[in-house]
Order: sequence, then C-alpha cells, then structure tokens
Amino acid sequence: MLSSVALFSLIAPIAAQTWTSCNPLNQTDCPTDTALSMSHEFNFTQTSAGSTWNTTAGTILYNDDGAEFTINNRGDAPTMQSKFYIFFGEVEVWLKAATGQGVVSSIVLESDDLDEVDWEFTGTNTTHGETNYYGKGNTTAAATRAFWHPVESPQTLFHNYTTRWTADRIEWFIDGTSVRTLEYADANGGASFPQTPMNVRLGIWAAGDKDNNNYTIAWAGGETDYTKGPYTMYVQSARVTDFSSGKEYKYGDQTGTWKSIDVIQGNSTVAETLSRPPPKTLAQRWAGLSTGAKIAIYTAIGAVVLALIGVSTICCITQRKAGRRERALADANWEKDHAEVMAYRARYRSQRDEF
Ligand SMILES: *[C@@H]1O[C@H](CO)[C@@H](O)[C@H](O)[C@H]1NC(C)=O
Ligand SMILES: *[C@@H]1O[C@H](CO)[C@@H](O)[C@H](O)[C@H]1NC(C)=O
Ligand SMILES: *[C@@H]1O[C@H](CO)[C@@H](O)[C@H](O)[C@H]1NC(C)=O
Ligand SMILES: *[C@@H]1O[C@H](CO)[C@@H](O)[C@H](O)[C@H]1NC(C)=O
Ligand SMILES: *[C@@H]1O[C@H](CO)[C@@H](O)[C@H](O)[C@H]1NC(C)=O
Ligand SMILES: *[C@@H]1O[C@H](CO)[C@@H](O)[C@H](O)[C@H]1NC(C)=O
Ligand SMILES: *[C@@H]1O[C@H](CO)[C@@H](O)[C@H](O)[C@H]1NC(C)=O
Ligand SMILES: *[C@@H]1O[C@H](CO)[C@@H](O)[C@H](O)[C@H]1NC(C)=O
Repeated sequence: MLSSVALFSLIAPIAAQTWTSCNPLNQTDCPTDTALSMSHEFNFTQTSAGSTWNTTAGTILYNDDGAEFTINNRGDAPTMQSKFYIFFGEVEVWLKAATGQGVVSSIVLESDDLDEVDWEFTGTNTTHGETNYYGKGNTTAAATRAFWHPVESPQTLFHNYTTRWTADRIEWFIDGTSVRTLEYADANGGASFPQTPMNVRLGIWAAGDKDNNNYTIAWAGGETDYTKGPYTMYVQSARVTDFSSGKEYKYGDQTGTWKSIDVIQGNSTVAETLSRPPPKTLAQRWAGLSTGAKIAIYTAIGAVVLALIGVSTICCITQRKAGRRERALADANWEKDHAEVMAYRARYRSQRDEF
C-alpha cells in the first residue's frame, strides 16, 4: 500500500487545476450535459440520492437527519454530485455543517469549463459561512471574492442555503434572506461570471490536513485532528430547479459564454426518471399480498430456518476463510477510496489559490 505522502506527491503536479473530466474550452469532443429540465426536491432522509446522483468519493449514509458525509479517518472526503446539469436555476440545500478544526463542508455548483459557485463552512467558525465563485477556472485573486456571512450556529442547526443563478446575477440566500448579489458585469466584466451548465456537488474534506499549504490550513481554521472525529456534515434535502428546459446542454464553441450553449430539445432522461412513481416499499408490497400468499411465505421461512440450523454447523468451518476474504476486500476498498480522496483533494482544492 502506498503511503499517503507518496500518493500525494504523485498527484501534486496536476494539483494546480480544479477538476473537470473534459473541458469543452480545450476539447471539442466532450460529452453533452444531461439537463435536469425541471424542479425537483431530493429528500435525503432515509432514502438514498437515487440514480440521478453519483457518489464520487467515499461512502454516504442516509438516516433521519439526511445524507451523512463523515470524516472518520485521514483521507476521508465523501462527496456526491448530480448527474444532471442546470443552465441557470435555483439550488436550495438544507445543511448542517460538520464540526472539527480545518474541516470544510461545502455546496458547490461546477461546470465542465470550471465555472463555480460555492458555499463553504469551516468546522470551527460557529458564526459565519463563506460564499465564493470562479469563472472558467480562473483562480487569480480568489481571496478577494470570498465573502463571509453571519449565520446562527451552522454546525448545530440546519439552514436553508439557496443560490439563485441567472444570466444577469447570482444571489445567495440564508434562510430566505439575501446575503450577497453578484452582478454579471462585476465579475471581471462578465468574463469571470459563472454562466455555463452546472452540476451540484455536496461534500466534506479536511482542508486542515497537515499536507495542505499553510494558507489553506489557516483559511480552514487550523490543522485537523483526526483523533477527535468523526466529523459529519448532514444534508436533509436539496431542491434543484433548472431554469432551462431541454434534453441536453452542449457547448457550441470554445468561448465559454452562456450564449454559446446550445439547448438540445427533447425530453430529459433525468426528468423522466424523477417523474416515475417511486417503487413500492416492502411494507406496501406485503400489504398487497393475499392471505394465501402470506401463509405460503411464512411456511417457506419456517423451512429455511430449519435448514439454516442444519447448515450453521458447516458454516463455522468456512467462516474463517470468508473473514480473510472480506478483510482483503476491505483493504482493497480502503486503498481505492484513499486514492480517490487524495486525487479529489489535490485536484479540487488544495494547491489552489484558495479561499
Ligand atoms: C486548457 O488549455 C489551456 C491552454 O492550452 C491550458 O493552460 C489549460 O491547463 C487547459 N485546461 C485543462 C483543464 O485542460
Ligand atoms: C423528507 O422526508 C421525511 C420523512 O418522510 C419528512 O419528515 C420530511 O418532512 C421530508 N423533508 C422535506 C424537506 O420534504
Ligand atoms: C460516477 O462516479 C464514478 C467514480 O468517480 C465515475 O467513474 C463515473 O463516471 C461517474 N458517473 C457519472 C454518470 O458521472
Ligand atoms: C468567522 O468568520 C468571521 C468572518 O471572516 C470572522 O470575523 C470570525 O473571526 C471567524 N470566527 C472564527 C471563530 O474563526
Ligand atoms: C482572471 O481573473 C483576474 C482577476 O479577476 C483578471 O484580472 C484576469 O483578467 C482574469 N483572466 C482571464 C483570462 O480572464
Ligand atoms: C429557502 O430559501 C429560498 C430563497 O429565499 C426560498 O425561496 C425558499 O422558499 C426557502 N425554503 C423554505 C422551505 O422556506
Ligand atoms: C508554513 O508552516 C511551516 C510549519 O509550521 C513553517 O515552517 C513555514 O514557515 C510556514 N510557511 C508560511 C509561508 O507561512
Ligand atoms: C416527450 O415526452 C412527451 C410526453 O411523454 C411525448 O409526447 C413526446 O413525444 C416526447 N418527445 C420526444 C422528442 O421524445
């Protein structure tokens, strides 16, 4: 297994870039962006994010408080991102930030050509949260664009963090109150105004990791102490509205302007998935069965239990082998996760002219 230091230095050369899998300003063969083309509320309590979101690093659990993004150990940085894009729209996220020095909870809108709109919360700033933006991956003077806003106890209370994004301006709201407005012209004459189709990313990471540069660590509130964890960010729900409608969004040229984006007409596959009635729960299906069917199932369960008692003796013998196999699998998964996370951290933030 590679040590984290070795992994990090392998990744470092690409670290100056924020991450995109295909930048349409450099390449003409990037895949088109699947449109959301509707408004949908994703309720993350008890149910998973479903097939329209992708867990891009680590593991995300779903409980009564919503989606849980936890840092248990060094290298953990669970993240998920929508498979769909919005081309202007509104994103309302109900989030409770993680505690932990240097731990950053984030809501990010990111486009293929690295336009970005952020909400960020550090684990130890219990009075303020930060907003920021980037245009076309331009990280110059990023610190001057970071604004901090008062918010009551973001690590203990859920708040409504909403971003409203149009071709004219971006507006950030906390619990219904507008806290910041960015006009198109004020973003480097529009050149740095986020204006290309965005996906939504939710995640947590340790900006305070000792391998990060001092500025990042200081910005995040200090070095992260992993022994004091776990640190968990919770997301109850996300309501995402696409102001455009169509099947897909495609970059028409390499200018990265909103006028260059072609809206491909047709029905969005994501909208079709989301509009389908949810599958019946187990309880609903059970209630729908006839008495005869239920008796048959009880009988079958009885037979299985008897069989299991017989088999359990044999099981004990094979158990130890299985244990070894599982352990190997867990190690492999850990290694994969760890590699992903290091890559994520490097490419997504750490060497960036951050804040
Ligand atoms: C895109 O191309 C420019 C100029 O060639 C280069 O500086 C930049 O690193 C490239 N970006 C990506 C994400 O490939
Ligand atoms: C999400 O679902 C839970 C459980 O059904 C419900 O109590 C809660 O009100 C829902 N939240 C939203 C924002 O709809
Ligand atoms: C989902 O994430 C995995 C892992 O990062 C990646 O390989 C895959 O291409 C992603 N799928 C989509 C649809 O984004
Ligand atoms: C939280 O952020 C605000 C704004 O940057 C700053 O004034 C305050 O000192 C910070 N508090 C802590 C505990 O870091
Ligand atoms: C990058 O951003 C800086 C600061 O806003 C600006 O002066 C510069 O012109 C931008 N670069 C490009 C290529 O737009
Ligand atoms: C959250 O804030 C947005 C923006 O102000 C508002 O439109 C929305 O109604 C709020 N959500 C709830 C559930 O109050
Ligand atoms: C960063 O921190 C290290 C270790 O504390 C220190 O030696 C170094 O001078 C710092 N560098 C800057 C630029 O603050
Ligand atoms: C889009 O869906 C509607 C309603 O389901 C259907 O009538 C229409 O033919 C579909 N359009 C395309 C281009 O598939």
